[in-house]
Amino acid sequence: MAKIAVLGYGVVGSGTVEVFYKNKENLEKKAGEPLDIKYILDVRDFPDSPYADKFVKDFNVILNDPEISVVSEVIGGLKPAYDFVKSALTAGKSVVTSNKELVAAKGAELLKIAKEKNVNFFFEASVGGGIPIIKPIHACLEANEIDEIAGILNGTTNFILTKMIRDGIGFDEALKTAQELGYAERNPTADVEGFDACRKICILASLAFGRHVYPESVHTEGITKITLDDVSYIDSYNAKIKLIGCVRREDKGEISIGVFPAVIKDESQLAGVNDVFNAILVRGDATGDVVFYGKGAGKLPTASAVVSDIISAVKHSDTSRSLTWADSEQTFVRPFEEFTCANYIRVSIKDSESAKATVKELFGDVEYLSTKGSNSGELAFVTDVMREKDALDKCAGLPDGFGVPVRIRVLDY
Ligand code: HSE
Repeated sequence: MAKIAVLGYGVVGSGTVEVFYKNKENLEKKAGEPLDIKYILDVRDFPDSPYADKFVKDFNVILNDPEISVVSEVIGGLKPAYDFVKSALTAGKSVVTSNKELVAAKGAELLKIAKEKNVNFFFEASVGGGIPIIKPIHACLEANEIDEIAGILNGTTNFILTKMIRDGIGFDEALKTAQELGYAERNPTADVEGFDACRKICILASLAFGRHVYPESVHTEGITKITLDDVSYIDSYNAKIKLIGCVRREDKGEISIGVFPAVIKDESQLAGVNDVFNAILVRGDATGDVVFYGKGAGKLPTASAVVSDIISAVKHSDTSRSLTWADSEQTFVRPFEEFTCANYIRVSIKDSESAKATVKELFGDVEYLSTKGSNSGELAFVTDVMREKDALDKCAGLPDGFGVPVRIRVLDY
């Protein structure tokens, strides 16, 4: 019999327990042995829960119980999750987690401990919620050199952008709706500023390229500055604005990586991903593009990934099958100013003809966009592909009358 402990009885923790007991019989067949959740750790009391007898408040009860072979950490954040996970692995227990902040910050170190102790550290639920993506990259696409990964990795921002695009409501109102529906946190910073997506692309990049990519080395922008004017111009370009986390293999063993709102043409599968859904496109040198789509958050989808990792950990309890990557200096992350893409740019103008001449001088041939509500006092256009640094220099070179240009990168997926 394999005995499991669940750390945290919040949304994902309660979902994990629910899925576990709902499907227990089947899970035991898959694991090849009887299973039970012996402990649930939470600081709160749940006297009316059917699992009331399993609750403990002291992590040491779990750590010091030799019957516990798998610990499921679904608390989130670094404190106290990092200490709990590190101690559990060091004590020879396998750990599964949904905690992207933990994996993005400490993944290399925790994977190393797991390997040394011949136990498993699995984190399928940390990216894409219920979408299988970690195991597929690690185990099904391993014949490929991964050229690029690009994903809509945050459901909250995708919901907000979908509202702006479909219903024509501004960012603030769309955020309020997301909060009312329980998608966005009261403090939405991690979602709307791109930090959550950043942690997720770091995990995918580390996995695909074999070296830990730390969030601090990733250029990260959120969606707070996106306006309905830009949504409308980009609609006329037959494209959508999406918050994209992307990583690209470059030459000399380097990668480019970033999180930012991007213009995605309607023919891309990523452009059709709406509401709280996530999608991750993996471009392999043998497969070409493979796209994973589904619910990237929520109680039961995330619990599905956690429970599936619990089963894998039980099945492979005698060998360390942990995915692995090495710790690293961040020298293989290419400075973002070398990133190349086309750019959507919107500027204020006084006279259209002379403004277009200036634009041509600086940016070369561009494609001008217009919309129903196009303002005669502005120009919107899409440039050719160029380096980030050049795009910044050219924008800085626009004369004063052009105002502060709005720039959104255009990606080709
Ligand atoms: N806040 C995250 C999202 C939850 O909106 O996608 C899942 O990581």
